[in-house]
Amino acid sequence: MIIAIDGTLASGKGTLAKRLAAHFDLPHMDTGALYRATGLAASLAGVALDDETACAEIAAKLDLSAYADADLRTAQAGQAASKVAALPTVRTALFNLQRDFANQKGGAVLDGRDIGTVVCPEANVKFWVDATVEERARRRCLELEKAGKPISIEQMTIELKERDIRDKTREVAPMKAAEDALHIDTTHMTPDLVMQAALKHIAQKL
Ligand code: DC
Repeated sequence: MIIAIDGTLASGKGTLAKRLAAHFDLPHMDTGALYRATGLAASLAGVALDDETACAEIAAKLDLSAYADADLRTAQAGQAASKVAALPTVRTALFNLQRDFANQKGGAVLDGRDIGTVVCPEANVKFWVDATVEERARRRCLELEKAGKPISIEQMTIELKERDIRDKTREVAPMKAAEDALHIDTTHMTPDLVMQAALKHIAQKL
């Protein structure tokens, strides 16, 4: 069983992915981490984030275990991720990694922006997770505050809007819902309610 979860930043897609993976005892890949690590590695190496050849080389040699989760979750890594994610050869370099993960015996849960549309169009179950920009900014600010990297809600709202536009309008694999995805708006939902809705959908699908 392949479960594909796509959606906007801080919509709750990662939380849902982790919970579904635990529930069905499936491996989980947060594909955003691949783009974050590529963006971070390029920034640290002083490579311009629009230097497609150099960024694709970094993506092709990526060792995700070399990066601490806290470093990958910063707003700076997120911005860098969104920039390198617009480069077609970076996406190609990361594609096989994601495909191999999805093809594991028994299945997998993957979350990202193009899982249901490009990486795993054949997924048995697809979700599109979203929430209002205000709620997403509030959640992300809380997360960053807990991680000791506070940022104002105004600044976060601006960054989220910028990221949404860049992710939606890029030419290759833009962020979008698959036609057969169940849409979940988590604005007024707890993680438990989101999980219940997802499990109900999966039960109907299988
Ligand atoms: O989900 P996230 O915030 O960790 O993702 C970081 C960036 O990576 C996001 O702005 C877009 C990009 N991304 C992508 O293009 N495709 C994916 N499957 C996952 C993330």
